[in-house]
Amino acid sequence: MSQPRKIYEGKAKVIFDGPKNGTLIQYFKDDATAFNAKKFDVLDGKGEINNLISEFIMKKIGEKGIPTHFLERINKREQLILDCNIIPLEVVIRNIAAGSICSRLGVQPGLKFREPLIEFYYKNDELEDPIVNDSHINLLEWSTPSEMEKIKVFAFGVNKILSKLFFSVDITLIDFKLEFGRVKTDNRLVVADEISPDSCRLCDTTSQEKFDKDVFRFDTGDLVSAYRKLARRLGIILK
Ligand code: TMP
Ligand code: ASP
Repeated sequence: MSQPRKIYEGKAKVIFDGPKNGTLIQYFKDDATAFNAKKFDVLDGKGEINNLISEFIMKKIGEKGIPTHFLERINKREQLILDCNIIPLEVVIRNIAAGSICSRLGVQPGLKFREPLIEFYYKNDELEDPIVNDSHINLLEWSTPSEMEKIKVFAFGVNKILSKLFFSVDITLIDFKLEFGRVKTDNRLVVADEISPDSCRLCDTTSQEKFDKDVFRFDTGDLVSAYRKLARRLGIILK
């Protein structure tokens, strides 16, 4: 059989043509990047574990009524997804202050927000994903006000589902990033990309042990071991 055609290569994934019209294959690489790829490494096993974790989380949020691009996992590194036009935004929800909000606004790390905080970043590596607001998004025509309302409802909905899911295994969801797409065949809004410890901040509720990409960003341990530990806690893998 001939190799599927490569459509797009990102920092952590490659997208290939799918077997049927309206589908794509999402391949998880072992590449780890941080700080807009200023830091880079190849970590054996990262792609496989993120494929499993993202499958698990996409299914969980799909079961609770939030539509996603996920169709099925094909093998260790690949999943079948719906072909979407990706909205060029990174939608970040923060429950507890960490990362860029602390350096940008001088917020104390660890501050628990009274309610989840939402932010939008323009997905553009050359510009280093600048923060934007609803006015930029509307007037630069990345999305419409009515679509943004839906995006916010879905993002806060995902936060509720995931906070509860992680809480049930003694893990705190500090913050996370979502991407959205419009399905090419019917223009439906869906959660796209991946939801994995690459795109979340997660820590043990008691010990504060970290299970996310900060382990790689700040060289505090072995990233793949941390991700595997998270997957074991969630019952995705046995050992
Ligand atoms: P930040 O504190 O660096 O803005 O990150 C907020 C959340 O978004 C955190 O869970 C990591 C995630 N994230 C991504 O998934 N991709 C990115 O490019 C960045 C900067 C953050
Ligand atoms: N995802 C971005 C990168 O790969 C930034 C980050 O996650 O820190 O460089």
